Amino acid sequence: MVSLQRQTPKFKDLAPLLKFRLPSVDATSRRLSQAHTIADLRLIAKRRTPTGPFDYTDGAADQEISLERSRRAFRDVEFRPGVLRDVTTVDMTTPVLGKESALPFGLAPTGFTRMMHSEGERAVVSAAARAGIPYALSTVGTTSIEDVAATAPTARRWFQLYLWKNRDLSLELVRNARDAGYDTLMITVDVPTTGNRVRDLRNGMTIPPQLTLKTLLDASYRPEWWINFLTTEPYRFAFDRSGEGTLSDLVATLYDSSVTFEDLQWMREAWDGNLVVKGIQTVGDAERAFDYGADGIVVSNHGGRQLDRAPVPLHLLPQIVDRVGSRGTIILDTGITSGADIVAALALGADFTLIGRAYLYGLMAGGESGVSRCIQILSAEIERTMKLLGVTSVGELNRDHVRAMTSCIPLPVT
Ligand code: GLV
Repeated sequence: MVSLQRQTPKFKDLAPLLKFRLPSVDATSRRLSQAHTIADLRLIAKRRTPTGPFDYTDGAADQEISLERSRRAFRDVEFRPGVLRDVTTVDMTTPVLGKESALPFGLAPTGFTRMMHSEGERAVVSAAARAGIPYALSTVGTTSIEDVAATAPTARRWFQLYLWKNRDLSLELVRNARDAGYDTLMITVDVPTTGNRVRDLRNGMTIPPQLTLKTLLDASYRPEWWINFLTTEPYRFAFDRSGEGTLSDLVATLYDSSVTFEDLQWMREAWDGNLVVKGIQTVGDAERAFDYGADGIVVSNHGGRQLDRAPVPLHLLPQIVDRVGSRGTIILDTGITSGADIVAALALGADFTLIGRAYLYGLMAGGESGVSRCIQILSAEIERTMKLLGVTSVGELNRDHVRAMTSCIPLPVT
């Protein structure tokens, strides 16, 4: 038997082990420094945000199968690393739609962002500017096109639009976006009607949230959110020029069940910047989008928030890349919860990726600093994954670096 040789601890040996740091006086920084993954940010967000807005962000449509499968597809990826490569310096810059992004992801358009945190879109665009990555303002964002531009004039700004029959309103928004320096129009095409968001129904979610007995109880242990909400200006929607009408009236004017590819062609003629079609879910529609003049597409099922059991973007990606990859930019979103997910998407042929919920968790956890923390976490994960794979630039990633495991791969329908 080995017996331990004990000795009395000496101060000179203990001193280097004593690492008591004064806690940061800033509660937000302290909180955020304890988040090491997007899942950690989500937990902080859940503690600090009322149930309605949190579930609106966290949830998806119906049984949330689309979202669960899209995430599982990333977990099922097996990486195939190359060893003994010099990976001292990793370059994560990625060209997208005619300019460089410092990182291979951008911040997706998300609705009602001031509902997640009162700093809302201003916080998100500022964090994007600092990181050197693009931000897409949503038509149902809660800050105007002009205010977002004025907040971060150096940010690369994209504008997301639904295709409506109301061409005058569309044209006005598109003109405003162009005048305010937005270089890309992203048209969302997977919303002929809104998805069935069961959590919102159960929570009685309204926009903006109402003060009911239930929300007051919920507010009692999330006071900061409500104080911010009640002491800042009312929401002002990117699409609402008049400020008139109830929100539900305004939103009802947005979604149009009758739009077709011909409407896309009309928008192509009206907009001379980059045109990206978001919400492509089949190879045939990917081809059609390019036939009708798109410069790029986003392979996406809207974060699982529209059609439940929709195609899994990561599974669809290689087929789309094979068929139309040479015709324009292929962007992937839905289900990304880590930097390794982004690396997997790039290896399977995506030119670029978008994150939505991930940065909203950061926003809810700590406003602008929380969005920056999210970007920092993903960026460190991407860099580490690339090093461990033996690559030093995004362009080197290819299908040899990944293999899909088989728990959820679609079989051909016969
Ligand atoms: C808006 O685009 C949403 O998915 O709620």
